This record gives sequence, C-alpha cells and structure tokens, in this order.
Amino acid sequence: MDWGLKNRLARIINPINGRAVMLAVDHGYFLGPTESLEVPHLTVKPLLKYCDSLMLTRGVLRTSVDANFPVPIVLRVSGGSSIIGEDLSNEKITTSVKEAIRLNASALAMSIFVGAKYEHNSLVNLGNLVNDAEEFGIPVLAVTAVGKELKKRDTRYLSLSCRIAAEFGAHMVKTYYCENFEKVVNTCPVPVIIAGGPKLEERQALELTYNAIKSGASGVDMGRNIWQSKYPVPMIRAVRAIVHENSNVAKAYDLFKKLCNEKPTKPKKLIQPKIQTK
Ligand code: R5P
Repeated sequence: MDWGLKNRLARIINPINGRAVMLAVDHGYFLGPTESLEVPHLTVKPLLKYCDSLMLTRGVLRTSVDANFPVPIVLRVSGGSSIIGEDLSNEKITTSVKEAIRLNASALAMSIFVGAKYEHNSLVNLGNLVNDAEEFGIPVLAVTAVGKELKKRDTRYLSLSCRIAAEFGAHMVKTYYCENFEKVVNTCPVPVIIAGGPKLEERQALELTYNAIKSGASGVDMGRNIWQSKYPVPMIRAVRAIVHENSNVAKAYDLFKKLCNEKPTKPKKLIQPKIQTK
C-alpha cells in the first residue's frame, strides 16, 4: 500500500490495536440543524480530545473547528439531497480532492445507496472518488446509507452493501450494526466501522458498541448517541473504554455514571461564532 495512504489510514484506525473512535458530526449535510448539533462548535469542542478523528463537512470544519487542534479529519464529500427533498439517494461528489488536501483531510467519506433509485450513480461516484483520492494517497470511507426509503438493516442487505463498497475500492466501510454482524465483517475485506444510529438509552448504545466490537468491527463512527446524550463527554469516554480498552458494558456504563456525577458537560448557551474562513 502506498506510504501516504497507509499513514493517513493509521491516523483513523490505530495500527496498534486496529480500533477507531470517530466522532460523526456531518448530519447537517442533509438534515440541517439536527438536535444538539444546532451550533456545531459548541457540540464539537468538548468532545475533540476524546475522539481519534472527526467526520464532518468542509463547511462545519472551516467555521467550527479550531485549525490548531490536531484532530485527523474524515471529510464528507458527497451530498446533494435533503431530508425534505425527493430522493435522499441522489448524491454527487460535492467537495474536490484538491479542497480535501487544502483542508489536510486524512480520509474522505461518501455514501452509497445500494438498492435505491440512484444506486448506480452512488457506486460510480465511489469508484471515481477512489480513483481520484488514491492518486494523492487519501483513503476513502464508504458509508452504507439506509435512507428513508431503505429501511432494511438486516445481515443480508448490510453484507451486500459493505462488500460492494469494498469491491469498488473503499478502504474502510461504515455501516449499521445488525444481528449476525460477524457475517458482515467477515465477508468484507476492509475494516468495518459502525454508525450509532438514532439516540438510544446510554446503556443500550454501549451494548451496541460492545456487540459490534465483539463481532469484529474496527470501531465506531458515532454521532447522535454521543452528542444527543445529556452527558456527551462521559458518553464518548465510555465508548472509548469499550473500543480501546476492551471494557465490557457494565464497566463502561459504570464509568459513564461516575463521570456524569463529576460535572455537567452539556453546553447551555447557543451562540453562533463568526469565524472568518477565507
Ligand atoms: C449519515 O449518513 C451520517 O454520515 C452520520 O455520520 C452517521 O449516520 C453516523 O452518525 P450516527 O451515529 O448519529 O448514526
């Protein structure tokens, strides 16, 4: 593998234990001001030092993340549809590789929509993005999207999507946890990372994380289950304990409760900063 690509991948997935805690805050690219992510810098700032990498769009990166903080960036480069639009699967590549290099991205992320109306376009987008990104040694994370018309989250569907993503050259795949997740991981020749999905009770989200790791997932790219928690910092630290320290659910949940009692971490003031970006 190309040295630069391998080095960038090592910023995302720790080469010592093969694990990753990615913090996902890219939701606004199709959801707008999602609950608890209304003012991105307030959500992101307290969590930055606990994630291995940050997944987001260029707009939120430029305006809401301190460039002096050395967090590896997984840049979402696909989009083009919104939650109120006609078809969520109608995405294109919206951010160039040149821009990703300017922003010092460690990896690029885009969604594929297997089984949806625009399946073909999204898969061709992935192939083309891998071609372009590999030219500069940048790895690509394929996100197996399950939009509103794609409710299937079963083993068969997710194995199919993950495998197709890897066949098109994705260097990592992000998907959802499902029953018999070992099959999804074992039939995908590149590392598989799970999204958290909609907000669950904290203990349930830790169970999801634990089960995914036990089934062979390389880590999490988690959003809502961290920053929609009343206690985001204790939550990300508990998730980290499972991913990086092999904690079980009981131990991680105990840590979560202990940290919750230390001090409140949820920011109260919602003020949009005016950061000059260009
Ligand atoms: C979805 O396409 C976005 O890429 C999110 O980053 C992803 O769903 C992970 O976030 P969550 O853990 O909130 O599901």
